[in-house]
Amino acid sequence: MAYLTVDGAIKRYGATTALNGVSFSVAKGEFFTLLGPSGCGKTTLLRSIAGFSQLTEGRVDLAGHDLLSVPPHKRDIGMVFQDYAIFPHLTVAENVAFGLKARKVATSEIRGRVAEALATVRLAALADRLPAALSGGQQQRIGIARAMVVKPRLLLMDEPLSNLDAKLRLDLRDEIRAIQRTIGIAAIYVTHDQEEALAISDRICVMDHGCVEQIGTPQQIYGQPATRFVASFVGTMNLLAPAAFGLPEVKGVAQWALRPERLRLAEAGAGAGERGAGNGAASIAGTVEHFSYLGREAHLTVQAQGHRLVAQIGAPPPDLAIEAGRQIRLSFDPADLHGFDAKGRRVQAELAA
Ligand SMILES: Nc1ncnc2c1ncn2[C@@H]1O[C@H](COP(=O)(O)OP(=O)(O)O)[C@@H](O)[C@H]1O
Ligand SMILES: [Mg+2]
Repeated sequence: MAYLTVDGAIKRYGATTALNGVSFSVAKGEFFTLLGPSGCGKTTLLRSIAGFSQLTEGRVDLAGHDLLSVPPHKRDIGMVFQDYAIFPHLTVAENVAFGLKARKVATSEIRGRVAEALATVRLAALADRLPAALSGGQQQRIGIARAMVVKPRLLLMDEPLSNLDAKLRLDLRDEIRAIQRTIGIAAIYVTHDQEEALAISDRICVMDHGCVEQIGTPQQIYGQPATRFVASFVGTMNLLAPAAFGLPEVKGVAQWALRPERLRLAEAGAGAGERGAGNGAASIAGTVEHFSYLGREAHLTVQAQGHRLVAQIGAPPPDLAIEAGRQIRLSFDPADLHGFDAKGRRVQAELAA
């Protein structure tokens, strides 16, 4: 059941249309992610929900009530920012207490709630430190504790991990998800990082140029991309001309797409034609351009009929080495092809052999 509903959100800045009719809803306790390239309107949307920015058109309802008529400070929404936005002259505990004091919560109650929030983000031992003495990851934990401690109805996070290094990003990502589950709050999370979105979300809304491209579970977004944009933005796709490689002709398909991990190394020279490598598989002959062995997988780039294909071989034999210039054959199951029409929309094609 919908808890937050955004309906027909439009935001114009002069001639720039930052949001061009965005609609979605988020269920209670759901972790919902806005994913898209820089400039696609993610921050504008989040700020409009929080009340820092006003929509040109559209509605936002929270728990069945119109949200846009409520002043920002009464919306009861917690927000976590990319740059932490914490007060440098206040201690960790004072930073977390700030929102409670502003809401005139009793001092006796503040102490307990701050301690609880700091314990949740594992900062209890640093309560009396100043933020400058803390790492980026710890500073963002303050940001999270401060947003949660007021027990908001909705938690908004705008690229909260972007300023952290890779290892910390992975750790804090899992922690954020665990905390959100524990307190059972509905969350809207913004990122331009597709892997982060897949890992953390119940559902993902992929955006481009102020429009929704697709809303779905990580499995749907990755496995059944609704548009060519989603197919290429989330993960890697090989895009193939319809007539190349003897691919099946299907009405309305202007382009085929195939994930690198769906390509397999076939025996060199196996299979006489482009198709018919056995078991309903199709195959492509080409010249190896680059090979890299990464342990749990190997990556190949292959030139074939004017296409540059990327293949990812999982669990490669430990002695696998392929020199550049070698002729090889890659095979795949035609059922793994995604078809897109001339406008880049998915075409449902029955290709199973
Ligand atoms: N205050 C503003 N004035 C004018 N244009 C803006 C303003 N804020 C954002 N924009 C424009 O709106 C579009 C969406 O921006 P933004 O929501 O920040 O995207 P994202 O967060 O996805 O990177 C961009 O083209 C951006 O330049
Ligand atoms: Mg942004």
